[in-house]
Amino acid sequence: MSSLLIQNGTIVSADSTVQADLLVDGAIIKEVRAGIPASTADTVVDARGLLLLPGGIDAHTHLDMPFGGTTSADDFETGTRAAAIGGTTTIVDFAIQARGTKMRTALDMWWKKAEGKACIDYGLHMIVTDLPDAGLEDMDDMVREGVASFKLFMAYPNMLMVDDATIFKALRQTAKNGALICMHAENGSVIDVIVQQALAEGKTAPIYHALTRPTRAEAEAVHRAIAMAEMAGVPVYIVHLSSEDALNQVREARDCGLPAFAETCPQYLLLSLEDVADKGWEGAKYVFTPPLRERSNQPKLWDGLRKDHLQVVSTDHCPFCFEDQKALGKDNFTKIPNGGPGIENRLQLLHHHGVGQGNFSLNRFVELVSTAPARIFGMYPKKGVLAAGSDADIVLWDPIAEHTISAKTHAMRVDYSMFEGFHVRGNARDVYSRGELIVSKGKFIGRPGRGQYLRREARGGAWK
Ligand code: URP
Ligand code: ZN
Ligand code: ZN
Repeated sequence: MSSLLIQNGTIVSADSTVQADLLVDGAIIKEVRAGIPASTADTVVDARGLLLLPGGIDAHTHLDMPFGGTTSADDFETGTRAAAIGGTTTIVDFAIQARGTKMRTALDMWWKKAEGKACIDYGLHMIVTDLPDAGLEDMDDMVREGVASFKLFMAYPNMLMVDDATIFKALRQTAKNGALICMHAENGSVIDVIVQQALAEGKTAPIYHALTRPTRAEAEAVHRAIAMAEMAGVPVYIVHLSSEDALNQVREARDCGLPAFAETCPQYLLLSLEDVADKGWEGAKYVFTPPLRERSNQPKLWDGLRKDHLQVVSTDHCPFCFEDQKALGKDNFTKIPNGGPGIENRLQLLHHHGVGQGNFSLNRFVELVSTAPARIFGMYPKKGVLAAGSDADIVLWDPIAEHTISAKTHAMRVDYSMFEGFHVRGNARDVYSRGELIVSKGKFIGRPGRGQYLRREARGGAWK
């Protein structure tokens, strides 16, 4: 087994920044300390001027996902390759239980999607669409397979939405099996009424996707989700939180000592309704759910990240090509496949706008993009930290490398970038996954199929 010594780097964790060397034995970190002799390793890398970060963990991606009559444009090969280039070494994607079928069928299907393709390690959440009483033990079966979290939808009626009874039963089951419920929190029934009215009034352009989904519909659902979790006596995790209104619900719950967790995404931090209001059909590029909000929400979300009212930044990467996929909704915004690309740019955007603009420290950056998702989703300390015994998922981060994000140069298999023209400082130079160099000087050199399925531990969200 070969060994690797990375010398002279600055090792950044969620709570410290130290000058030290890092010795890797095969796939695992063996030692982290200053002054490890070069003679101990087969390969020695000089990381002077670079930061050593634990590989990024994107806990919310949708690769090869069927939606609205099409499939997300990145599969497990193209999506995880783009992730690696951006410094992400682990994703947690979503398998979807089809109504009337077993979760096991969905799990097998998603394992097949990833097999021979994944370039980095991956876990799976299970989206529950159907939970008869006889199906509750299927959740326990999934937990035994390392699916330590489930997503439930309070939106998308007749597609993915489940009722409160189903949500409450699922929450109660996690009290027994230790899994974590992730909630897509928007009041789908109310939104549907508003949407039908808009369509009846001939309002079919992309912007109406955003204008028919009020922040109150998000806040109400967040409040209800947390209240149901409290009644069930379990934690809950709100996905893709987008607005101040919704954030207030999480903050108030946490202030009362409730185990409510939430993530936001770069698009809500950096893009706004005002940015897309006059884009006409091009606005379809920004049709995702929850939608973009008024710009005034952004400083509140940054503040939430700084103060730990929000614990994680993930991407909700769900790309659809503008030319031939978003076009499905040319005459009706409800037919535009929901989702946007971002798996490649999360660390770049968060480093530049978070650390670079003084919104939070380098340590908090590491916590938000790696350590906290590892802890919350049952992967810590295998992932999410550079310490002896952990997987050698290491990013050599160049904090002063500059580049401009563009669809012309990105690796994601999608014909536009939500962040086109954003100039960022800080980028992954080299990336190791389980000790193997998979990105060298920004170029992917790994092998599709090398990524392994991660059996995650169900810890009931009890992570701090
Ligand atoms: O618009 C989005 N977010 N698409 C992906 C599905 C989801 O709700 O996360
Ligand atoms: Zn969602
Ligand atoms: Zn999503």
